[in-house]
Amino acid sequence: MRVVAVMNYKGGVGKTTLPANLGAMAANRGLRVLLLDLDPQTNLTFSFFSVDDWHDRLKDSHTIKQWYGAEMPGRDVSLADLVVTPERVNEALENSGGRLDLVSSHLGLIDIDLELAARLGGTTTLDGSKRKFLDLHGSLRHALEEDAFTEYDLVLIDCAPNFGLVTKTAIVASEQILVPAKADYLSTLGLDYLAGNCATLVEQFNEFVGHKRGGDDHHPIDPGFLGVVFTMVQIYSQQVTLAQLKYIEQVRLNSNVPVLESRIRNSPRHFGDVGDGGVPAMLRTAGRDEVVKEFDQLTDEVLGALALLPADHR
Ligand SMILES: Nc1ncnc2c1ncn2[C@@H]1O[C@H](COP(=O)(O)OP(=O)(O)OP(=O)(O)O)[C@@H](O)[C@H]1O
Ligand SMILES: [Mg+2]
Repeated sequence: MRVVAVMNYKGGVGKTTLPANLGAMAANRGLRVLLLDLDPQTNLTFSFFSVDDWHDRLKDSHTIKQWYGAEMPGRDVSLADLVVTPERVNEALENSGGRLDLVSSHLGLIDIDLELAARLGGTTTLDGSKRKFLDLHGSLRHALEEDAFTEYDLVLIDCAPNFGLVTKTAIVASEQILVPAKADYLSTLGLDYLAGNCATLVEQFNEFVGHKRGGDDHHPIDPGFLGVVFTMVQIYSQQVTLAQLKYIEQVRLNSNVPVLESRIRNSPRHFGDVGDGGVPAMLRTAGRDEVVKEFDQLTDEVLGALALLPADHR
């Protein structure tokens, strides 16, 4: 099982669109995919469930809020019990051999995130506080090690555009980080800052793990950056605009985060109505137009990097 966090501090850069469609395409190739919605905005969830459905069936009993809400995440509720199988997308996947499951988010996760951070304090001994740091930050990683999750090939986590404790649990749980960005100054400005914050978190986690009494059931982590995926790229006359090409090149040359070859163009026609009908655009689009080809190439690149490409796609 591979775990990939999707994150960027910048909002509205296509973070949610990426796991929704990449997850759907990977499932369409026969993989068993689990999506974790850790953004209180709950957009990834609403890509697969209608708001009414979410209110009736998920809100009170089946969201990640129940899991993070315990004194220690997962203490009262098992993560596996929160997994739901959205019907519409799985009907569309029927002949693929793959599957797409989801753990839903909840707006109330915002408050829980703040409470979790507050819980980091209040321990008087150094050993105690290191143990609490590891248990809190390692909670999602620990949960995904449960037997129930061995049936998944790929877990994609949609993170909120911040570096709160919930996001940190996602980084600790992940083997790779994928960063969607628009090809403009503001969207790429935070890349190295993000990489720096991740490095600091990893360093601290591993230092505490190394401290024997603090970390006996935690292991060192080493999440890598799969790379930046440029999204909503402007295309004119079949070409990326010169200004955006320049930005992409600048990031390639100057950033610590690698840049993926695949790019997704700006296409309001495909992505304007995210989740319409509970099936991501890339599964709804008939035929292989340019945008589907781009997403297909991205799926190849990401699954290839994760060593998850089925033999007939290699
Ligand atoms: N390639 C694209 N072309 C055109 N529109 C897109 C594309 N990708 C995403 N969008 C649209 O842009 C908006 C923002 O995308 P999305 O919700 O995926 O971004 P986000 O980074 O998750 O935002 P947030 O920070 O609010 O979570 C959505 O309305 C989405 O449908
Ligand atoms: Mg989002």
